[in-house]
Amino acid sequence: MTAESLERPLGIPSDRREWRDGRTPSADRARLVLRTAREEDLPELLRLDREVFQDVAYPGFLLRQMWDMYAEHFLVLDAGEGRLRGYVLAATTTPALGLDSWILGLCVARDRRRRGLGRELMTEIIARLRRDGVARVRLTVEPANRAAIRLYRSLGFRPEGPDAGLRPDYFGPGMHRLVLGLPLTPAEG
Ligand SMILES: CC(C)(COP(=O)(O)OP(=O)(O)OC[C@H]1O[C@@H](n2cnc3c(N)ncnc32)[C@H](O)[C@@H]1OP(=O)(O)O)[C@@H](O)C(=O)NCCC(=O)NCCS
Repeated sequence: MTAESLERPLGIPSDRREWRDGRTPSADRARLVLRTAREEDLPELLRLDREVFQDVAYPGFLLRQMWDMYAEHFLVLDAGEGRLRGYVLAATTTPALGLDSWILGLCVARDRRRRGLGRELMTEIIARLRRDGVARVRLTVEPANRAAIRLYRSLGFRPEGPDAGLRPDYFGPGMHRLVLGLPLTPAEG
């Protein structure tokens, strides 16, 4: 695996389409930087994760240890002045186990949604995983989470296993999840 950090201003998308709320993309988006997470991001990551996931947010110690292990596949949307507006985190098994990855976290701050940022995070992490030789990415999603399911399906994720990927009580009683997967073909060159 490579250990390359990322820092890329998002700028204005090439198609320059209007956002659904009628605003132009430039104001929001041009200020955001997509980059690998840093140790000093951890308090803000914890805040963002709690804001979005509330009672199912990661505890601080786990978020920290996931950064310890997976920093190069932990990407954030940096809005400047110490504020983060989204993140994606992928955890990868060892080569001996065939380099599979799980997306363990994806979110965009509520007031920044539907501007292509979730897609940007996912597209970048998938590209990095492919480049790093990962053969398959999997994730779980709440069956009622239409927004996330549509995003994942549009990126090529498909249900894994029987019952259209539905795994009752996957995270404990009543916490059902769909398991979706995406095979990755090796990157060229
Ligand atoms: C899921 C999430 C990350 C999407 O982020 P986003 O920046 O709003 O998504 P995008 O603007 O990039 O949209 C990408 C696609 O997702 C789908 N989508 C996003 N929001 C949607 C909504 N409210 N309703 C239906 N589809 C939606 C669409 O297919 C969209 O493609 P389109 O713009 O071409 O129609 C965001 O809604 C979120 O943070 N939700 C809370 C946390 C969460 O559920 N995380 C996933 C856990 S598995």
